[in-house]
Order: sequence, then structure tokens, then C-alpha cells
Amino acid sequence: MKNERKACRIGVLTGGGDCPGLNAVIRAVVKTAIAQHNLAVFGIKDGFLGLIEDRVNPLSFDDVSNILGKGGTILGTSNKADPVRYCVGHDGKGDPIFEDVTDRVTQNARRHRLDAIVCIGGDGTMSAASTILAQGIPVVGIPKTIDNDLVSTEITFGFDTAVATATEALDRIRTTASSHHRVMLVEMMGRNAGWITLHAGAASGADIILIPEIGYYLDKVCARSVERSKQGRAYTLIAVSEGAKPVGGEVVVDRIVHESPDPVRLGGVSEVLCEQIAQRTGLECRATILGHVQRGGTPTARDRVLATQFGHKAVEMLVRGEFNRTVAVQDGQLTSVPIEEVANLQRLVPTNDPLIQACRATGASFGD
Ligand code: F6P
Repeated sequence: MKNERKACRIGVLTGGGDCPGLNAVIRAVVKTAIAQHNLAVFGIKDGFLGLIEDRVNPLSFDDVSNILGKGGTILGTSNKADPVRYCVGHDGKGDPIFEDVTDRVTQNARRHRLDAIVCIGGDGTMSAASTILAQGIPVVGIPKTIDNDLVSTEITFGFDTAVATATEALDRIRTTASSHHRVMLVEMMGRNAGWITLHAGAASGADIILIPEIGYYLDKVCARSVERSKQGRAYTLIAVSEGAKPVGGEVVVDRIVHESPDPVRLGGVSEVLCEQIAQRTGLECRATILGHVQRGGTPTARDRVLATQFGHKAVEMLVRGEFNRTVAVQDGQLTSVPIEEVANLQRLVPTNDPLIQACRATGASFGD
């Protein structure tokens, strides 16, 4: 949407799960806005929670100096602050009570005279952003997630760092697996998308790669492990997504976060598989769940570069009045798409992805 109204005072927020590169993108937004366009920038604390609770403060050059390589987000974030379904308390049974607080959000945005808001987040944040833009608050989105599962963009920052962290973990586990002649499983994040596991599994040459998009057969996973132990390569390295499931079976749920718009948290499939493989094969097995280590720490150079490009592009869009769109990469080029195209949708690994073919060709099994 092209809007003739110019943005002079802009807000910026980071929503959803954090990822490496968020500070780099905040820095790019603030520096471009102030130095190139003389805009006033306001930091909104903890994602949409900051607009619900009116925690909004000016951001200066000094606030963003020296943060390019820092993990986390100086603004804080929340993955429980959907304005349409916001938890305002709990009933007698401990169940959450939800309210639509969109009006509160728009009133606070107006109180601070924000002409537009840069929303940095994943599918859930983009869904919340489309709600407030429907109330007349102009928005520009910047996609982020380690999962790399947003539709309409080929890449999100945070992914490269998560893959590097997971690859290093797999490499480390390989040496101990080899010493002890064990079957070792390393579980990675990604919700229902297997991007991190596929890329880290490929990068470290995992023997078996289990991703949500390809159902596995326990028999085949066991047979491969036994075959390797007989061949003298007396260990097996298995990269497994938290969302992996057997053909005809279910995902393993770690917990339900009732207050969250996306309440199911996956986790534990590697431990289940570890037991099953040990029982069936008699091989010694161990599982490691990488968890939030994949979300923390300093971003790779690639993620810092991408975050800087995204932040710069978002401000240029704001200045041109190109509201209600989110930055994207398509065919390797920086572009933008309507926010609604990103809201609440997930981009899964296609089962004919060329990297899957390359992994199969170089000896990896997908358990299928
Ligand atoms: O979407 C990012 C992500 O790290 C997923 O990979 C993971 O399933 C989920 O968030 C974990 O959420 P939480 O931080 O609430 O445990």
C-alpha cells in the first residue's frame, strides 16, 4: 500500500522468540532513521506487550552503539502478547482468561504519536501487526526466526547462526560418538519445519537426518545404525528435528504454554528415539537436546549483514510511505510483500529440496 502520509515518529518492536541478529536490525533501523531521515525513533519494550502496557521510550544513536554483534534484543521480546487474545489473568481452575486489547494498543501508539511501527518478528508477530494495521496504525514488518519457516521470504536472519551452532554441536558429538561406538542423537529446534536440521545435518555429514516433512520408519533408523556398526564405522550420528515423527505417528510435545498464541512447544523426540533404538538394537545410545542454545549468542557475519539490509530497507519503505508490507528476499533480491501473506503461515522444507537430494546422494538416510 502506498500512503501519502510521511512517517516522522516511528516505533520499533521485537516480538516472538528471540534470535541472533535482532540487535543488528534494531541498530540499522535506528541509525538509518535518525541519520538519513531525521526521524524520531521510539523503542517498544517486550514486543506488543510494550504497547499493551505502555512501555515506550525514545531510542538514540547511543542506545544502539556497540550492539551489532550482541545476541538477544535490547528491547526485550514476548511470545505471549497477541493483542487479540491477550491473557489478563487466570480463573479459579488456573485456566487463562483472554481479552481483546487491540484498542489499548492503538490508543498507546496514538498517545506517543507514532506515525508507523516497525514490527520485527515471525508469523505470530506479523499476525498481530496485521491486526493493528487494520485499526489504522501503519506498519512495516521485518521477518526474523531461527526456524527460517516464514512464507514469502527465502531467508530470515538468525537461521545462519542457529545452523552454525547446531553444526558445531553435531561435530562435537561426532567425536564422542566415535570414541564410545555409540548411536548419538542431536535434537534441533524448528517447530514443524526441518530447515535447521537439514542444513546442520548436511554441514556435519550426519548419517541419519530426521525432519518433520519426511516421516521416518523406526525399523529403517535401527537397520541403518546396526549396518554402520557392522561395517566397522562403529557409531551413528543422527540429526533430528524437534518436530520429526514416525510415519503414521505423532510429534512429541514438551509443554503447552496456554497463554501463548501458538501454545504447543515441541521437544523430546530424540529421547524417545534413543530408548527405542537402544531397546531394538542393543546398541548404546545417547540423546542431546540443543534447545535455546540455538537462539542465543553472537550472530554470524551473514546474519549481521542480512539484518542490516532488512533494517535499512524497512526504514526506506517507511519513508516512501510503503506501509503494511514486510521486507523479504525473493530470488536472492531484497523486496517486500503484504504483511497478510506472512501472518500465521509456515514454510516447510519441500521433500524434493535439492539439499535433501544431495544428502541422500552422499549417503545420508532420512529414515524413509
Ligand atoms: O520459533 C522459534 C523457536 O525457537 C522454535 O524453534 C521452538 O520450537 C520455540 O521457538 C521454542 O519456544 P520457547 O522459547 O517458548 O520455548
